[in-house]
Amino acid sequence: MTVKARAFANIAFVKYWGKRDARLVLPHNGSLSVALDFLSTETSLDLLSRSADRDELTIDGVAATERERARTSAFLDAAFGNDRARACIVSQNSFPTAAGLASSASGFAALALAAAEAYGVPASVDRSALARLGSGSAARSIPGGWAEWRRGEQDDGGDSLAVQIAPPSHWDVRLIVALTMMGRKEISSRDAMARSVETSPYYDGWRQSSPRDLEGARSAVLARDLRALGEIAEHSCLKMHALANTARPPAIFFEPATLAAWRAIQGLRAQGTPVYATVDAGPHLVALCAAADAERVERQLSATPGVVRTICCAPAGAAEVLA
Ligand code: PMV
Repeated sequence: MTVKARAFANIAFVKYWGKRDARLVLPHNGSLSVALDFLSTETSLDLLSRSADRDELTIDGVAATERERARTSAFLDAAFGNDRARACIVSQNSFPTAAGLASSASGFAALALAAAEAYGVPASVDRSALARLGSGSAARSIPGGWAEWRRGEQDDGGDSLAVQIAPPSHWDVRLIVALTMMGRKEISSRDAMARSVETSPYYDGWRQSSPRDLEGARSAVLARDLRALGEIAEHSCLKMHALANTARPPAIFFEPATLAAWRAIQGLRAQGTPVYATVDAGPHLVALCAAADAERVERQLSATPGVVRTICCAPAGAAEVLA
C-alpha cells in the first residue's frame, strides 16, 4: 500500500541554531516560522517485503546519493525502530534541494507523516516530534501555518513539539524568496550549527537573548504587527549568521548577491515600504511584506545583481497525508 504525504517548507523569523541533544534533536532555543505555499515536498512511501535489507530513495526523479539514503535510513531507524520493514521512498520537491531553501524541512516532514501512517503509529504520537528527528526545522512543517517549535524542558524531548499558533489565513503577508545561486550549498546547517555551539564565543549570548525574541515574535504575529515581527526576524537572522561567521572554521553563507538583496530591502524600507529580510543557512534571501507590497518588492529583488529568480509565497497550512 502506498502512502503519500505533502508538507510545505517554512521560513523562520526566530531561528533554530544549535542542539542541546544531538541524538534527540533538542534545540537550545525555541523558534518561530511560517509555512510557504510554493515550496513543498510530496513523498510516496511503500513498505518493502521483510527480505529487503535496505531502503530505496528517489529524490526529484533520480536515485539518491549514498549519503542521502544513509541519512534517511538513520532517521527512519531513530523514529520507527531498527527492526522496521525497509521502505521505498519517492520524494518530489517543487524547488531546488539542499540549497538552503529548507528542503530538509518539507522533506522530512512529508516523510515522517507518510512513514508514521505506513508503520501504523497511533495518532496520539505527535508527528512534529517524529519529523524533528530528521531535521529540526521539519518539526515546524508538520503543523504549518504560523508555527512555534518549543524548546521544551524535559530531557527526553517529550515536550519539544511544534504547534500552530495561527492558521495561514490569520495574516495576509507574502514571503518573497530571492534565489541568488543555483546548486547545492557547501556546508550543511547541521555541521555549521554544531560548530557554532562548540566554538563561537557568542553562543551564550544567543542562548540568553533568544527567549525574548521568541516572545516578541509570537506577540507580533498574533497582533499582525509587521514592523515588530520584521525587526525581530532581521535581528535573529543576523545573530544566527554572526554565530556561523565566528565558528572555527567559519561557515559563511552570505554571497555578494545576498548582501545586495539585503541592501535592496533596506532601500525599499527607506522609501516607505515595510519589508524585512531573513536568510537561512544558504545564500538566498526571503523578504517579508504585506500582500499589497509584494509586486514592488519582487520587482526590486529581481533587478538586484546576482538574484537569479524570485518566488512569491503566501502562508501555507499543515502537512497532510494525501492518499
Ligand atoms: O533543520 P535544520 O537542521 O536544517 O536547521 C535549519 C536551521 C535554519 O533553517 C537556518 C533556521 C531555522 O530555524 O529554520
